[in-house]
Amino acid sequence: MSSIAERREELLHRASAIRFPSDFVFGSATSAYQIEGAATLDGKGESIWDRFTRRPGAIVDGTNGDVACDHYHLFPRDIALMKEMGLKAYRFSLSWPRLFPQGSGRLNAAGADFYNRLIDALLEADIEPFLTLYHWDLPQALQDRGGWYNRDTAMRFADYAAGAAALFGDRVTKWTTLNEPWTFCWWGHATGEDAPGLADGVKGGVAASHHALLAHGLAVPLIRSEARNAEVGITLDVNVTEPATDREEDVEAARRFDGAQNRWYLDALFRGAYPEDMLDLYGPRLLPDIRPGDLETIAAPLDFLGINNYRRSVIRAGTELAPLSFARVAPEGSDYSALGWEIWPQAIEDILVHVHETYRPARIYITENGMATAEETPDVKGRIEDVERAAYYVGYVEKVASAVARGVPVKGYFAWTLMDNFEWALGYTAPFGLVHVDFRTQERRIKWSGEVYGRIAREAPGR
Ligand code: NOJ
Repeated sequence: MSSIAERREELLHRASAIRFPSDFVFGSATSAYQIEGAATLDGKGESIWDRFTRRPGAIVDGTNGDVACDHYHLFPRDIALMKEMGLKAYRFSLSWPRLFPQGSGRLNAAGADFYNRLIDALLEADIEPFLTLYHWDLPQALQDRGGWYNRDTAMRFADYAAGAAALFGDRVTKWTTLNEPWTFCWWGHATGEDAPGLADGVKGGVAASHHALLAHGLAVPLIRSEARNAEVGITLDVNVTEPATDREEDVEAARRFDGAQNRWYLDALFRGAYPEDMLDLYGPRLLPDIRPGDLETIAAPLDFLGINNYRRSVIRAGTELAPLSFARVAPEGSDYSALGWEIWPQAIEDILVHVHETYRPARIYITENGMATAEETPDVKGRIEDVERAAYYVGYVEKVASAVARGVPVKGYFAWTLMDNFEWALGYTAPFGLVHVDFRTQERRIKWSGEVYGRIAREAPGR
């Protein structure tokens, strides 16, 4: 037997041994701008990503999400693929400017109609919708008034959340406010790698973060009052953070990085206070206007926490984003994905145990986990044999199962992502899908990883 055939055998064998409680859900995740396309159709307003992708040099391959996977038209096909793989849940986001083209005020009925059809078709297919309100596509009209630097954007988000809950809350019970505030606040406002492309350093990242968290906190009770059965959460990208060496300066840098990426959000949400060491580090010069009562609003009790996890962060002292002053280190001897992200499955078990022991969220979902490869083309049989991606899923899902066995209340897992799509500043150069998309023809085909993941999804719960 060739070694590749042996590797496949071994992975199928391990996939067949994974066990979860019978109510554990497996699904896949996407986001509106990355898949929908139809960027200017049927009354949709402009988002900051529509604008940012026009900036020369912003996207490595010069592409955008104007058409993407054309999910706006092809969603029945995509639901059929989920069904074929045996997935029981689907995490997607609403495009805020598709519903409210100006960010607030007039509802675009055609946008509401699209999401109604999508939700109804999911329920018809027995796939539970997990709805995210904000996956980075802020209405440009709000950006023109300061975006996440403007406290008023938090109020506009709360209105939008209430409007969405009133529209869809009769059928959707799982509601997530924000996806990865650390990422969109910092890469959008501190470094400028993502929309809206502002490179304002730490001051920008922190200001955006506070208003985003405030937006979340204001939205939570409104979602509950508009959607009776709503369970409300937020998705954070939290990573195990380790110092590269035990030298004091590296230990301190890792602590600062952990403070900025992880503790800033977790402490605010679960303890109602920003971490003291970070408040000291930022000081009055870098801190935004944090008003009395804001932290109480932000700490509204949650039904679940979503965790996106891909890798661990190994950090040493460096020059990035002073005064965070860190650098990322790629540990020797590890395997890496095409994006240079370390493949280290233990990270997902460790972060689940750590968050559970430190913050005790009522329930946890892994809302994203997955792996990019180099661009893939079908072989002569028309298949994509992405054995390394399948290995990634088997390895990480095994560790999620260990966390469950250790008592962490993890209730579901979502693969990132259903199908190859627009990977932000990397355009279409970093496919993450369980399903391959030929962007010239919009033809979809399930990859080998999709078959293996589907087997886990169908067979592991209740085995
Ligand atoms: C996190 C983001 O939520 C998602 O939009 C992105 O595509 C994946 N990570 C992969 O980078």
